[in-house]
Amino acid sequence: MNGSVPVETTFSWSTFVQKYWDRSPVLFRSPSLSPAPFAAGDVFRAAVHGSRSARLDGHMPSHAQFTLERMQRDVAHDLLPAAEDGSFDGYDSRLATRLDGRRHALVINSFHTFDPALWSRERTFFAGLWDIVGLPLTGAITTLFHGTYEHSPVGVHKDRFATFMFGLRGRKRMRFWSHRPWDEPVSTKVDYADHRSESFAAEIGPGDVLYWPADYYHVGESATTAPATSVNVGVPRHDHHVGYELETLIADIDPDRLTGGSSLDTLLPCHEAPVAAAGPRADGLLSAALPEGLSAPVRTLHAFAQPDRMADRVTTVSLRRWTAGGFEPAPAPVSPPPLADTDLLRADPHAQILWARDSNGSTLCAANGHHTTTPLKNSDMLQLTEALTSTRPVEVAALLEAVSPGLQRGAARTLLQRLESFGAVRRHS
Ligand SMILES: [Fe+2]
Repeated sequence: MNGSVPVETTFSWSTFVQKYWDRSPVLFRSPSLSPAPFAAGDVFRAAVHGSRSARLDGHMPSHAQFTLERMQRDVAHDLLPAAEDGSFDGYDSRLATRLDGRRHALVINSFHTFDPALWSRERTFFAGLWDIVGLPLTGAITTLFHGTYEHSPVGVHKDRFATFMFGLRGRKRMRFWSHRPWDEPVSTKVDYADHRSESFAAEIGPGDVLYWPADYYHVGESATTAPATSVNVGVPRHDHHVGYELETLIADIDPDRLTGGSSLDTLLPCHEAPVAAAGPRADGLLSAALPEGLSAPVRTLHAFAQPDRMADRVTTVSLRRWTAGGFEPAPAPVSPPPLADTDLLRADPHAQILWARDSNGSTLCAANGHHTTTPLKNSDMLQLTEALTSTRPVEVAALLEAVSPGLQRGAARTLLQRLESFGAVRRHS
């Protein structure tokens, strides 16, 4: 043993940051969290939603992994949670029969994108951390771990993320090493029995929260043979920070790539162009011109770097980032039915609505990590958002009266519909 995990029973972000953030693992035993970031119902709903594409085409979604006795499955069949299961208990009993008791692991990445209520609660809870340490520019990640696996499929490893593990069901053990326990040139180890004596561990049950900094090597183990469920939130701390941040400034990145390696070249629009130079000319020299595969990305980046062109993108990304509250990508917008004048609306108190002028004189407006453009001017935006945040829901007709007459009212109706589709404005009956 070369360490142990301190146990706390009360939780506050200020004490946590003072004593543990980037310093040491800590276990919070059944702390009362307000608001509780993960409710069992939200988590199951998100797991079902995250499995939905598999039920349509039978393939394992790119954001999900199902491992059976150490073998990863490419075909989903009926291995993923479904609405008919009703709960994780229902899913577990179906799988127990289906898999004949064999050990399995379900991992769903980008987990917060699959349920707006879960996303909103998680964002509200972590706002207290961002107030102290700052918003993570490239966003925190959320991952569901569920199953009866002996140890997490990847084995012992280290992440570029600091991790908060929220125990929901069953018991799990996390095993830690403060330094890499092996000398071989490998980044993970599935068979780690030889290194167990140098590790220390913490057991986590329902309602517990375990934190460990990005420096610690770790592996998750089942503490019992019963299924266990947890949600992990990873906050980026190490490696490639500037690279990741530059990428997200230039283009919207596929959420499935957020946890893996990535590079600027996949974002630039010239995948097919040759990157190899033609051979030397008759005079023995290479052409002075770059191959198209290199010159096109240079032109793209050069054009992007012009301040007038970049300004709108910087504004858009900033507004989306602030309103996403550290958890991007946000759940996708929905399509509510058209708004009638008599519908009652109110802003979601957890959603911030932010706006700024763009270079065309329009207004960029963002909420819940999404953005839209509107011709409404600043004074109309102020009137509209003030009316939306009053203590009681307000009729659409009254909200429209808050802005200047004429074309602005049509624009205000369109904006309200967009804000409702983002989940930032709610309809009340
Ligand atoms: Fe990890």
